[in-house]
Amino acid sequence: MVNKTDPLKTIGILTGGGDCPGLNAVIRAVVKTSNLYGYSVIGIRNGWKGIVEGDVEPLTEFSVTGILPKGGTILGTSRTNPLKSEEHTQQMLTNIKKFGIDAIVAVGGDDTLSVATRLHQMNIPVVGIPKTIDNDLSGTDYTFGFDTAVSIVTDAIDRLHTTAESHHRIMVLEVMGRHAGWIATMAGIAGGADQILIPEVPFDIEDICEGLRMRRERGKKFSIVVIAEGAKPKDMAGFATTSSKVDEFGHEQLGGIGHLLGRAIEERIGSETRVTVLGHVQRGGTPTAHDRVLATRYGVKAVEQLHEGKFGVMVALQGDKIISIPLSDAITQKKVDPDLYEMARIFY
Ligand code: F6P
Repeated sequence: MVNKTDPLKTIGILTGGGDCPGLNAVIRAVVKTSNLYGYSVIGIRNGWKGIVEGDVEPLTEFSVTGILPKGGTILGTSRTNPLKSEEHTQQMLTNIKKFGIDAIVAVGGDDTLSVATRLHQMNIPVVGIPKTIDNDLSGTDYTFGFDTAVSIVTDAIDRLHTTAESHHRIMVLEVMGRHAGWIATMAGIAGGADQILIPEVPFDIEDICEGLRMRRERGKKFSIVVIAEGAKPKDMAGFATTSSKVDEFGHEQLGGIGHLLGRAIEERIGSETRVTVLGHVQRGGTPTAHDRVLATRYGVKAVEQLHEGKFGVMVALQGDKIISIPLSDAITQKKVDPDLYEMARIFY
């Protein structure tokens, strides 16, 4: 497959934003596919930070041996926005040249890919790969990492069920999902949750309590409520947050809505209520088989796109095919399908 006249010689790869299971599977696929075409690969450490600081390492077949099932990312990640200052933007462009990087594979969510989009506009060849446990990127049916997160949350719901039932308690489970409640919805359906609360649909605490009361009257002495961290009551202006700090893309650190809800439920209906905040457990550990396969397909397709000279695109899953779409179409948020959310209510 090596073509001696191919202008592409060296591919840089980085993983940015929150980590997720499957990142190493992508890195492995990019390195192995690149090697088939005769391209060398440079790993950029810690997302965009690495290219600003010139922190890179060569990636060979040897570097990626054994990483397929490993969670996290061997390259490290960060929420650095290299476009925040003119100085960093220039350093990034200088380093891309200095290390002989002809094209970049950027693996990330909306923030990382918004930077990739800007680079494309600056004529840097770039291909994006959609990553986030939140599954909130448009243009793709699924991001990798999501399936693993849903499995972890479903397992947590199953475990909460047995203890909730024994103690006749209400269990509130807070899960990740800043602007979109995909994890809460899918895991809530899979685990048989009795209420699912998501950012897309502001909730009325009285309605939630009424639902739980009715369930109790039907003889069900326990309930499971799954709430996404970005969900909020109709009358609440901002998000529930754990700190006033924001990251370089302006995002607040979310958390706390589960405890607010738990207290409100206990006060109103008097049933003993316990709150579990699953947090970063959802992002850790080994990827499911589904995520390993999806991540591998994305990695292969990204290199194929570069080989074909198709830049400024994001690889995506549509139906059962991996295709590519313009990066600019991907960085809008994908909300939970209202029909799916409505369907979940049948089981409340
Ligand atoms: O990966 C996306 C996400 O999981 C969001 O749902 C969550 O708000 C955020 O990451 C938290 O990430 P961190 O604590 O790493 O900033």
